[in-house]
Amino acid sequence: MDWYINNPNWWGDVTGALLPHPRMLMMPGGLESHFEGSEEEKPASFGSSNTRMVVPSSKNTSSQQKHPFMFLIYGRTGWIGGLLGKLCEKQGIPYEYGKGRLEDRSSLLANLQNVKPTHVINAAGVTGRPNVDWCESHKTETIRTNVAGTLTMADVCREHGILMINYATGCIFEYNATHPEGSGIGFKEEASPISLALSIPKLKLWVCMPISSDLSNPRNFITKISRYNKVVNIPNSMTILDELLPISIEMAKRNLKGIWNFTNPGVQAKLVVAPRSNNEIDASKLKTEFPELLSIKESLMKYVFEPNKKT
Ligand SMILES: NC(=O)c1ccc[n+]([C@@H]2O[C@H](COP(=O)([O-])OP(=O)(O)OC[C@H]3O[C@@H](n4cnc5c(N)ncnc54)[C@H](OP(=O)(O)O)[C@@H]3O)[C@@H](O)[C@H]2O)c1
Repeated sequence: MDWYINNPNWWGDVTGALLPHPRMLMMPGGLESHFEGSEEEKPASFGSSNTRMVVPSSKNTSSQQKHPFMFLIYGRTGWIGGLLGKLCEKQGIPYEYGKGRLEDRSSLLANLQNVKPTHVINAAGVTGRPNVDWCESHKTETIRTNVAGTLTMADVCREHGILMINYATGCIFEYNATHPEGSGIGFKEEASPISLALSIPKLKLWVCMPISSDLSNPRNFITKISRYNKVVNIPNSMTILDELLPISIEMAKRNLKGIWNFTNPGVQAKLVVAPRSNNEIDASKLKTEFPELLSIKESLMKYVFEPNKKT
């Protein structure tokens, strides 16, 4: 046993023996050709040499060999991250929760090299407690994690040719002259001001006012507004997690990239006072990719109200 541990390179590259479709190795570019995109998107390789040993990682080893996907999910203790883990379990997708911290590059590198994911699903971020106002008064901590940390993770994924799926807030627009309130003209993905983030290939999902069927969860938008003293009647885009999180997993499987407005089509009125929290974003790109996507009203009925109906 000691000898095998001390001579890990003795057998050379045996990756092909463990692949369900070893033909991939014989194709030009080998495994690397499996990654889509430009040269700089391709993996630098996990190892320091071209001899890649398959080192058993902490768990799920047998399912990794059989399954084409291995998701590394950041946000284990969070609302969206917790739901994503449950979805992977339900769908039989091998996954692990991230162990690094977003702003600590070396911890992310070590985590990726250990788990060897096909995708990094990033639902981690500082969201503020008791509410998002905390982020306004703690700008340094917020920028360190949500801006520097997210970009660090995106860069580490880029280096390894791994697609990162990032859940971010879509509350970045305000109604204006070209997008007047109530006009039905929503902000399209191209209106996004985040050009720096666009230069790193990844899948960025703009989430708005997330709602789930779990009405006991204080993060649930319906639960939140039911506790506000003051609400306003302004149309807003929203994300029904029960319908959209499975779609985001499908987007990962399809290796989709770029910025996507990640809401149900249409708007729902009444909500928060801060102007940038109230806006309509255009979900037509998502609807074109997933024609079965329900409108906000239909989705609320199907995924939130019906399951919670008292019989
Ligand atoms: N909930 C919303 O209203 C909403 C709306 C739009 C978009 N989003 C976005 O969706 C993402 C997930 O939201 P959520 O509601 O699930 O958030 P959440 O419940 O507050 O969970 C955040 C998660 O991020 C982790 N985290 C925080 N700082 C980290 C760091 N520096 N390194 C690694 N992990 C870190 C937390 O882990 P620890 O506990 O270990 O710190 C936690 O697991 C966030 O980026 C948020 O901006 C949320």
